[in-house]
This record gives sequence, structure tokens and C-alpha cells, in this order.
Amino acid sequence: MKYRQYANTGLEVSEICYGTMRYASKDGVMDEQARAGARTLEEAVELGVNFIHSSYEYGTRWLTGQILGKHPKRHDLHHMIKINVPDWGDPVFDAKKFRDQVEDALRDLNTDRIAVVQHLHRGTVEQKLGYCEAGEPTRLSEYNHVTEPLKEEFARLQQEGKVGFLASFPYTMGYARQAVTSGDFSGLVAYFNTLETEMIDVFDEMETAGMGFIGIRPFAAGLLTDKRVNRDLLPEDDRMRDLQFDRFYDQLTEFRSTLPQEPDSWTEFAVRFSLSHPLIASTVVGINTPEQLHSAVSAVDKGPLDSSVVQQAHKICTDFRQRFGVVANMGGVPVY
Ligand SMILES: NC(=O)c1ccc[n+]([C@@H]2O[C@H](COP(=O)([O-])OP(=O)(O)OC[C@H]3O[C@@H](n4cnc5c(N)ncnc54)[C@H](OP(=O)(O)O)[C@@H]3O)[C@@H](O)[C@H]2O)c1
Repeated sequence: MKYRQYANTGLEVSEICYGTMRYASKDGVMDEQARAGARTLEEAVELGVNFIHSSYEYGTRWLTGQILGKHPKRHDLHHMIKINVPDWGDPVFDAKKFRDQVEDALRDLNTDRIAVVQHLHRGTVEQKLGYCEAGEPTRLSEYNHVTEPLKEEFARLQQEGKVGFLASFPYTMGYARQAVTSGDFSGLVAYFNTLETEMIDVFDEMETAGMGFIGIRPFAAGLLTDKRVNRDLLPEDDRMRDLQFDRFYDQLTEFRSTLPQEPDSWTEFAVRFSLSHPLIASTVVGINTPEQLHSAVSAVDKGPLDSSVVQQAHKICTDFRQRFGVVANMGGVPVY
């Protein structure tokens, strides 16, 4: 495993961050899926993964806590948690709710410290609107009302040794720019893969400000893998058959047409792509089986891709966003 530093914080994280959203059921039952997930997470830690992403929303902390809470390497691990305060419809930032979510995570994961808190400001907008253009002016107008008390509560938790660094999950480019300009956050945690490269537009400014970046979903939720890259071959019930992914497949077709040759493995390509900028400390991968783990780790070993490939993907991503807007159901990033 290779490690990178998150911003100038001194926090050394593995290039793969283990994403726990899909690796077990939400009902706490140790079924076949959970047994495979448990084996995979254990092996990931053995292979040197020291960065673990979780959220109360995923409902899978029961398994993560069970495996990592007593693990001999538990003191070497860094946890990143996602917290949504204010959540959809909440009128204001609630410091107690924020603190409770940190304390719950400390207890559930049996850890002394959360290294990175990924903060998502949903706010007074309604659920879907929060992720598309109509929600943006509302979130931006609420920005200071949310971040000022957020920073105060975070500083108290920091003094108590319970948290390390505050990062923003901006969700829109408007919010990302605000978060970067304000200097309120140590960095951003946001989608970054061959089809979602929007955040590149703020990388220079982030670098100048000494901020860090952590990418999420290198496979675009599973699309950018050898199993799913050719949609026609997928079973009828595969989640990538859903209409919301049409745009991503169209974008991928265009990107593929620009490559001098197809990669030997799209799975490998996607992981390497997701780490192909020096600002990126780690990529949060949803890994469910030992086989998926092994292929992700061997991809990391091959190193990043040439920056020209990333620039080409970004050009196509920008063009698609301008022509067709966003994949709102996927939480795509609106153009602002
Ligand atoms: N997506 C979001 O909205 C979101 C938001 C915040 C945070 N996160 C964090 O980011 C993590 C990753 O997100 P994600 O799961 O949506 O996206 P992802 O990492 O792009 O895709 C993960 C999916 O790809 C497939 N896969 C993983 N490794 C593979 C491999 N080596 N070879 C082939 N297929 C492989 C698996 O699907 P199958 O097993 O079905 O094939 C897996 O569920 C989450 O676990 C969570 O911690 C996600």
C-alpha cells in the first residue's frame, strides 16, 4: 500500500480509503454479504489500508465497529465520517446534533478520534432540490450561518482530542468555491472519477491555500469496472441499467473514442485515474469482496496515469455538463 499526506496536516493516509456504504446490509444480520464484507475489510487492514470511511446513514457501522473496534491495528487507523448537519429541512446548524453524531461514531467504531469529518450542509432545501440548481442559492445564502457555529463546535471537539480535521463535501461547484475561498475547511471530499472531474476546476486554488482533497467513488458507483463498462452485456436487473446512468454511459462512449487504445482493464484504469493528481490524498472505494480489494490494490501499485488523460476526461466532462446539465439523481455536481 502507498500513502499520501492529506494537505499539510501531517495525516498520512493510504491511497485507498475503504468505503463502507455497500459492503453489508443495514439490518445488522451476519448474512453472506456481511461475511464477505467482513473478510474484505479485515484483509484490507492487513494489506495496509489505514483510512476508513463511514456514515450513520449507511447503516453498516455495526459491522465496521465489530471488525475494527477490537482490531490489533485499531490505533493505526484513521476514520473519516460523513455528517449532514443541517440535514434536509433543518432550519439551522444544531451544535448538539453535530456533537452527538461525532460521539456516536466514536462509540460505534470504538475509536478515540475521528481523523476527518466530511461535512455535508443540506439545509432548508427539500431533498432533491438540495442537489440541483434550485437548492444552490439557498445553501449559499445559509453558508455563514452554518459554518460559523460549525467551526466553533468543531474547535471544541478538537480541543477534547475527539476530531482531527474538518472537510467539506460541497456537492456543487458554487459551494466548493465558497468553501475554498473562505478558508473554513482543511480540504474537500468530493466525487472524483473519469466521468466526474468537476473539482479539478478548484484544485489550483486549493493547492495555493494549502488545502487537501479526497476523492469519492472512483468507479462512478460501479460503472467504471470491467463488469459494467459494456452496458449491453449487463443483466436486466443490474443497477447500471437505470435511466439515470444513460448520461454517464454516453460520456464514457465519447471518452473511449478519444483513447488511442482501450485499457487492458477499466477497473485498473479507474483506480489509477482517481489518484492521478498530486493534490488527491486518497480515493474512497466501495469494496465488497476480497477479489475487488485485490484488483484495487494492484491498480494502486501501478501508479497514477499521465496527466494528459485526466485533462482529456475533464474536457469531455465539462462539455457534457455544459450541454446536458447534471445527473441530479446521482448527486451530480451542477454547473455554477
Ligand atoms: N456514492 C455516494 O453518494 C457517496 C457519498 C458519500 C460517500 N461515499 C463513500 O464512497 C464509497 C464509494 O462509493 P460507491 O460505492 O458509490 O462507488 P465506487 O467506489 O465508485 O463503486 C463501488 C462499487 O464498484 C464495484 N467494485 C468495487 N471494487 C471493484 C473491483 N475491484 N472490481 C470490480 N468492481 C468493483 C462494487 O459493486 P458490485 O459489488 O455491485 O459489483 C462496488 O459496490 C462509499 O462506500 C462511501 O463510503 C459515497
